[in-house]
Amino acid sequence: MSVIHDPVLHRLLSTLHARSDEQTAAVTSYIQCALAAHPPTRKEIKDFLSDKLVALDRDKAEFCYQLCRAHNARRIVEAGTSYGVSTLYLAAAARDNVLAAGGDGVVIGTEYEPQKTRAAREHFEEAGLSHLIDLREGDLRETLKRIDGPIDFMLVDIWIPMARPALELVAPHLRPCAIVVCDNTALYRSEYADYLAFLSDPTNGFLTMTLPFPGGLEFSVRCRA
Ligand SMILES: C[S@@+](CC[C@H](N)C(=O)[O-])C[C@H]1O[C@@H](n2cnc3c(N)ncnc32)[C@H](O)[C@@H]1O
Repeated sequence: MSVIHDPVLHRLLSTLHARSDEQTAAVTSYIQCALAAHPPTRKEIKDFLSDKLVALDRDKAEFCYQLCRAHNARRIVEAGTSYGVSTLYLAAAARDNVLAAGGDGVVIGTEYEPQKTRAAREHFEEAGLSHLIDLREGDLRETLKRIDGPIDFMLVDIWIPMARPALELVAPHLRPCAIVVCDNTALYRSEYADYLAFLSDPTNGFLTMTLPFPGGLEFSVRCRA
């Protein structure tokens, strides 16, 4: 049973999750083989991943939808859009919050691979959610410099070295009790050290815990005293 009851969106998401799942084995074995033999360069890794969905798992994405509904999230930031799978869940939550209680909503997404942004826009159109999505093309260190806050919810689903820069840019715009979710923080604990250090620095005002989804899902609340 899914929390997404919109049949058009549900069908589209099923197709995209299936494509992403098909690629997961290839991505995992590329990383394992490449690391075992001779490490790929940054460019080789970027080229290999440039057409891969690497979508957020369905249960994690549905959880984000639920969090956005529970929090009545209207202003949402997503770092790492790819083909737009998680964006669709977030935009559906914003749409459903608006339908339930009026007002407006927006999901600010960001992605630097041009072919992914093209495909993502097509998916947003197909789902009828384009009007809720502000997809910013380019490196997030530029595209997230301008945020009209306050932000209710942020999803960090980006290559790991970019997680902390993304959060640092958005943190000043988070509303009190805003939620920040980040993928795979148990699986890549040491790689996320700088991101987790930012969250646990008391001057930044977060409370954080790692939820036991496969790979871990960091659930952080901006609770400035
Ligand atoms: C894990 S994927 C995002 C998956 C997406 N959230 C979903 O569920 O479909 C991470 C994405 O971040 C993009 N990315 C990585 N570094 C970036 C940067 N500095 N600026 C913008 N996008 C970046 C990658 O091209 C990749 O598509």
